[in-house]
Amino acid sequence: MDANSYASKTHNSYNPMKKTFLTALASATFAFAANAQSHELTIEMKKNGAPIQETMYGLFIEDINYAADGGLYAELVKNRSFDFPHAFTGWKFAGNVEVRHDGPFDRNPNYVRLSSSGHGHKWTALANEGFFGIGVEKDKEYRFTFYARVPEGYKDARIRMELAIPVTNREGQDFLAHEMTVSGNEWKQYEVIVKSPLTEPRSELRIFLLGNNPVDLEHISLFPVDTWKGRKGGLRKDLMEALADMKPGCFRFPGGCIVEGTDLDTRYNWKNTLGPVENRPLNENRWHYTFRYRFFPDYFQTYGLGFYEYFLLSEEIGAEPLPVVNVGLSCQYQNYGEHAHVAVDNLEEYIQDAIDLIEFANGDTTTEYGKIRAQMGHPEPFNMKFLGVGNEQWGPEYVVRLEKFVERLRKEHPEIAIIGSSGPNSEGHDFDYLWPEMKRINVDLVDEHFYRPETWFLSQGNRYDNYDRKGPKVFAGEYACHGANGRKWNHFNASLLEAAFMTNLERNADIVHMATYAPLFAHVDGWQWRPDLIWYDNLRSVRSCSYYVQQMYAHNTGTHVLRATEAGTPLAGNDGQDGLFASAVWDANKKEVIVKVINVSEQPQEVKLTFTGLKKNQQPQLVDVTTYHSDDLYADNTLDNPTAIVPQVKSAENVTLDVANVPAKTFAMYRFKVEGRK
Ligand code: AHR
Repeated sequence: MDANSYASKTHNSYNPMKKTFLTALASATFAFAANAQSHELTIEMKKNGAPIQETMYGLFIEDINYAADGGLYAELVKNRSFDFPHAFTGWKFAGNVEVRHDGPFDRNPNYVRLSSSGHGHKWTALANEGFFGIGVEKDKEYRFTFYARVPEGYKDARIRMELAIPVTNREGQDFLAHEMTVSGNEWKQYEVIVKSPLTEPRSELRIFLLGNNPVDLEHISLFPVDTWKGRKGGLRKDLMEALADMKPGCFRFPGGCIVEGTDLDTRYNWKNTLGPVENRPLNENRWHYTFRYRFFPDYFQTYGLGFYEYFLLSEEIGAEPLPVVNVGLSCQYQNYGEHAHVAVDNLEEYIQDAIDLIEFANGDTTTEYGKIRAQMGHPEPFNMKFLGVGNEQWGPEYVVRLEKFVERLRKEHPEIAIIGSSGPNSEGHDFDYLWPEMKRINVDLVDEHFYRPETWFLSQGNRYDNYDRKGPKVFAGEYACHGANGRKWNHFNASLLEAAFMTNLERNADIVHMATYAPLFAHVDGWQWRPDLIWYDNLRSVRSCSYYVQQMYAHNTGTHVLRATEAGTPLAGNDGQDGLFASAVWDANKKEVIVKVINVSEQPQEVKLTFTGLKKNQQPQLVDVTTYHSDDLYADNTLDNPTAIVPQVKSAENVTLDVANVPAKTFAMYRFKVEGRK
């Protein structure tokens, strides 16, 4: 554990309480407090309950809130190929700049020609604004690349790249410059690595034409050198570290509504994300000009972060990849009527996309798509096991299409677990229609989504207790507590209620096989949706309270459920349970019992923990106690204070008897060693 996972453990070399504490452990029934307990949690240890899937707590990414371009994908230049519908989106230009359309990359054909302005006192130049500015850090290196040639009749041309602060009182705006010569009439890639002399979150990239000779420029790019795993054109390191620190069990991508697109032409097309980034065609982002109140008309997908990258990053963070494909529906929120979707008899291309995706992920290198994967750098299969068919779809128009997919997939790829949807609501008409349909179609998992207020989270402590054990398993694929009365920002109380709700996921791990909070990322200057798991600006990032709740679960998943009840009933926030929620798991690898207790009430609660079914020599030894709490229920970690609210871990040596109290509004977690148990 490091500072970025949990607050560091505190160890005292000598603790006078220790002896008393261990003496208390000597009895099979161990009470935290000597005095009266208002609640008792009996943890049955005679036998293990259901196994908990390794996929259980995962992550879900969608390119919303500038999550990919402008976020995880570390490219700093917006519209690097001039192929946005308005070729100069993101750019300013001066002098003699012309957009041309016969560039070296057929699927991104635009480029610019910079020619002399015809006047010695008028510069021809370009300036790129980046994503809410271009963030650079002092002494860090940046890789500037571009493709270029000089037009016929010229031998060479000179340019000067600069990083500048557009709004400043300094004498000169530029703080870094490098001059380069472009030679020859053939397109070539040029590269220079520059070091920033200062930290500036909102700089601008400028390119000046020097001299009188014209030059053609294409795919102008700037990346930090220090990316995740040091890859050229790679992913933002701090954000990837946050994902890896989660130790997620699964990784769902690429969305969300972007799977569907505002219309079918702009659906996420995974095949367009293959091969060299220069020739991945641009796609409109579903979230760009969809809201008037949060209007981002310059939000597009370069696909620089594509399916190959998603599979690779899943592998690198140890998560099962869980891609989602379009089922032949454009976004159902934005389109009404069959005409907006693919006709049911016309689904072949879409079904083939799903089949080809499996080949891309798992096929050997002699297959068409397996070969592409190998050419991209990964001859070994990615071992994909799950496939989402459709995002958050609903209605008979979904069911009729899904059936066609399932028919073919079962025939050709019975090894792949298919994930269907129960629609956008946690209950109600669509949900009640879809679950029986999912059972009839016999999908393997059903993806449930719930963005709900506090009252809902408080009332759902028993949600899965009575689900049909014979049907498909549950994937809680998108959920977050959306605070009522406009309190949709990330805050501690919302995360606490999410923690409470998650005891129910854990207790029902026989049927709940995966759960992913949503959405994953948000740029503070460009979000469309909140709350989100991780926030960032151009240089800094912060893990929200919800991140730490997810991490507490993901790091303490255990291998088996343990039955934990009060008088035979789970603690699930029900009447008479004083706002307590609890679950317990056994970790057969570490020989640990992990008990999670969430107290959402405003009073501290005493909970007596009773372990039954253990042999005399198997007394649980407390390893540590983790508590997660904020006095300010509406506060969250911030970019300026990213560790304001983080879990506190105390080792057993530091535990005194008052740990019997689960403080008000607290997520408490107790880890015990039980040697000699399986
Ligand atoms: O995560 C934001 C959106 O919420 C997703 O795109 C969609 O699946 C859900 O409605």
